[in-house]
Amino acid sequence: MSFSKLTIRDVPVHNKVVLVRVDYNVPLKNGAISDDLRIRASIPTVRYLQEQGAIVVIMSHLGRPDGKVDPALSLEPVARHLEELMACPVQFIDTCYGDKVRQAVKSAKSGEIIMLENLRFHAEEEANDEQFARRIAKDSTARYLVQDGFGVVHRSHASTEAITHFLPGVAGLLLKREVVELLHTMEDPARPLYAVMGGAKVSDKIQVIEAFVRVADKIIIGGAMANTFLAYKGFTMGRSKVEDGQHETLDAIYAAARKKVGDDHVDEFICLPVDVAVCEEISPTAVRRNRKVADVQANEIAADIGDLTIERYTQLLVKAKTVVWNGTMGLAEMPEFAHGSARVALALASDPDKTSVIGGGDTADFSLKWDGHDGVSFTHVSTGGGAGLDLMAGKKLPGVEALLDARK
Ligand code: ADP
Ligand code: 3PG
Ligand code: MG
Repeated sequence: MSFSKLTIRDVPVHNKVVLVRVDYNVPLKNGAISDDLRIRASIPTVRYLQEQGAIVVIMSHLGRPDGKVDPALSLEPVARHLEELMACPVQFIDTCYGDKVRQAVKSAKSGEIIMLENLRFHAEEEANDEQFARRIAKDSTARYLVQDGFGVVHRSHASTEAITHFLPGVAGLLLKREVVELLHTMEDPARPLYAVMGGAKVSDKIQVIEAFVRVADKIIIGGAMANTFLAYKGFTMGRSKVEDGQHETLDAIYAAARKKVGDDHVDEFICLPVDVAVCEEISPTAVRRNRKVADVQANEIAADIGDLTIERYTQLLVKAKTVVWNGTMGLAEMPEFAHGSARVALALASDPDKTSVIGGGDTADFSLKWDGHDGVSFTHVSTGGGAGLDLMAGKKLPGVEALLDARK
């Protein structure tokens, strides 16, 4: 798969001011950054630009402040964290345009880093407002827009779309890596390609499931998503999380699957749990109990795939050459219900010949914690949630489309 957009390596950024859109929309717990994957993943781009002697002006959103200033969503703590990771000063400016920005850039030296305040403190950001984008571009005095915020390029916002009307836009190194890895998986994977899908909802991931029905050799389902599939199949799931209103969607998914593999093979193609790990209350002291899917009691909650299913799924995964995993197999934030997810992680990590691509905020979070070493056990851990799903579903990403074409 060749990447069709210009990148920072294709343009002369040496000693220029560059405006870099990153996705530092990181999870915060009591004001502290609880997962810095997105910040760490942006470092190769920031470091490359710094080494080229560029003045690096970074912009991002954080959370959904809906166009109002919310001190709890200031990017200042993120700037401090970036400073630590980069081991050099990062100058934080409490706005994203105007005199303060102009002054800071004017007095900055080659290689220095400036970070602007949360773009979504202005309603114009999400409205893809031309004037807002023009002011940011002008006041930063940047020569290029570098798009490296993979997690946000599925949004048509001022900093992903309108900004490219005022500055030539090129891709950063993270954006390129994400697009190449995810598209390669969908378009030209080493086969067999197995998709492991789980997590909270079917409705969040319908188009990706449909895409996997087309391209995957097997689809393995767990998590609350599996509860919804099992309910569709007629099993009673007690008090488990089951998403209502998915009957027609699943009819369509099964119709496409039957067309592809034939009626007799559909249940080998879309694999569902044969048992689930249940509890009566979701609490830190809950103990898992295995139940065949036909035996779930009215008061029980399926919170993980069961032990038989874990064995079956891990056996299946042995054969895969490429695995895409999106969505945890259960309530993986609780150790008692993380067995399924941990065994999937192990199945991917223990085979050096397997290409493993992990996406989704919760799944990435789980697998990085499981791995404990920056995700080196896997081929690629994506920083994108919705953007990754859209890309795998075959949609165009506005923030990528807006960048300069490599061939032009
Ligand atoms: P990702 O962020 O990786 O795309 P999702 O957000 O779709 O994944 O799903 C992760 C969420 O799904 C987690 O909060 C997890 O607790 C929840 N989840 C997974 N399995 C179950 C289950 N059996 N019952 C309830 N919640 C579940
Ligand atoms: C994300 O976390 O998925 C991105 O940062 C986009 O955020 P949004 O869903 O609030 O647009
Ligand atoms: Mg999630």
